[in-house]
Amino acid sequence: MSALEESFRWWQRGVIYQVYPRSFMDANGDGVGDLAGVLNRLDHLEWLGVDAIWLSPVYTSPMADGGYDVADYTDIDPVFGTLADFDRLLVAAHQRGLKIILDFVPNHTSDQHPWFLESRSSPANPKRDWYLWHDPAPDGGPPNNWVSCFGGSAWEWDERTGQFYYHAFLKEQPDLNWRNPQVQEAMFDVLRFWLDRGVDGFRVDVISHLVKDELFRDNPANPDYHSGLRPRHELVAVYNADRPKVHAVIARVRSLIDQYDDRVMIGEIYLPVERLMSYYGSAGASELHLPFNFQLLELPWHAQIIGDAIERYEALLPPGGWPNWVLGNHDRPRIASRIGSAQARVAAMLLLTLRGTPTVYYGDEIGMQNVPIPPDTVQDRFERNLPGLGFGRDPERTPMQWSAASNAGFTTGRPWLPVAANYATINVEAERGDPRSMLTLNRRLLALRRAEPALAAGSYTRVPAPGDVLCFVRHHGRGRLLVALNLGPNPQVVGRPPGAARGRIALSTHLDRDGEDVSDTLALRPDEGVIVRLE
Ligand code: GLC
Repeated sequence: MSALEESFRWWQRGVIYQVYPRSFMDANGDGVGDLAGVLNRLDHLEWLGVDAIWLSPVYTSPMADGGYDVADYTDIDPVFGTLADFDRLLVAAHQRGLKIILDFVPNHTSDQHPWFLESRSSPANPKRDWYLWHDPAPDGGPPNNWVSCFGGSAWEWDERTGQFYYHAFLKEQPDLNWRNPQVQEAMFDVLRFWLDRGVDGFRVDVISHLVKDELFRDNPANPDYHSGLRPRHELVAVYNADRPKVHAVIARVRSLIDQYDDRVMIGEIYLPVERLMSYYGSAGASELHLPFNFQLLELPWHAQIIGDAIERYEALLPPGGWPNWVLGNHDRPRIASRIGSAQARVAAMLLLTLRGTPTVYYGDEIGMQNVPIPPDTVQDRFERNLPGLGFGRDPERTPMQWSAASNAGFTTGRPWLPVAANYATINVEAERGDPRSMLTLNRRLLALRRAEPALAAGSYTRVPAPGDVLCFVRHHGRGRLLVALNLGPNPQVVGRPPGAARGRIALSTHLDRDGEDVSDTLALRPDEGVIVRLE
């Protein structure tokens, strides 16, 4: 075991790769990706050089929300395969040294989950209290003003039993009542089921939503709301998320996970960084290992702004809290569409050279872009609820582009979402053979991160830089690397980094400057990022 392996856990040293299983690889020709498809493509992930695979939900589901509406937490949906397929994938991944992280969706179930069917059957049912049922307001309307993240009231009227139930997302996703100890125990059993099977950890869906205000008070209006924002931002979510009591619940989940060796707990939380930090828990170690840090998905793409955000995030981390960075996921526009293909290369270099665990979204390694979805093929209910406003998530969920074969080699059937028009050139096979491709860049970045403890675990120090350049040094033991990223379209010159006599280029995003000597200054071309090994 290397010194690095001894002092840093796998989820600190490693890189996480998110697979959206519906879109990764279809092995049975039904047009939807599956577990056998992921298994067939482990070669790609091993060759690429990532360390862990996070699978978006593969559980039994009516798929009202792409599987984030779970009807059975301890089985695999037939569209993805069987439990035996899952076990095969887990074994094969482990044989290759790849970890498997499951998506855990504890905040809500499907409205078809047996628990909800029981709960809904009568106010006297023993599982009534497993969900959030409430009498109407005096005027007969919903009990309060809480809105669904996908638009409209978060309360659904149940005619038969004469009460409303709460759903933070679709009405097909009723929220569980995590104050009920039986709900907690049932969910802990679910976690044990997968941990005993050998999964390496969980990405926990909307974890800050688990506990709601006991008094169901109205949320205040958001004075800063404007029409470009998501509907839930009309109100400030004071009472339906990020409640103080959620922390004790998360700590209980964490202590269960800690009964197993070396597993990771990641949480999906969209909150300002000051709030996010509280989810590491007391002493930075009792709740989440990694509360997802989504700043790079949202910040304007300017060196000064991003540099300041990195410094602030680093400064706010609690002792023992390990950083992490995310550049794309199944809910947000693809990075190559948001900032352009040239800057997407710079962004990849940023993600894979920052201090902290990076998460790479499937397809971003080849530069996949958002795919326009014709209105009659829209799948995402968020888009169907609020059409044309740009909230739909299908564009970033389109089939992985494997080759120039039909349907980009994703399926022999009819793909569930359209394949990008550019798949003949933007695909794994074409880019593997191209020494200047986005894929080659990502693979080399991953190899460098693995080879250089300074990148995987070293300190981070910002270096002043001109114009739209972001510059920092990563340092560990005798290794020192300068990262200089030109986030703009103009050439720039960076001065000699403090304390360094000279250096040699280890990697440029343009992939054409290997080994170049750097003495007094470093010239950066438009949209170029460079990593310099300092001497
Ligand atoms: C999370 C998921 C998203 C899903 C929602 C409801 O935000 O990432 O895809 O729609 O939770 O489960």
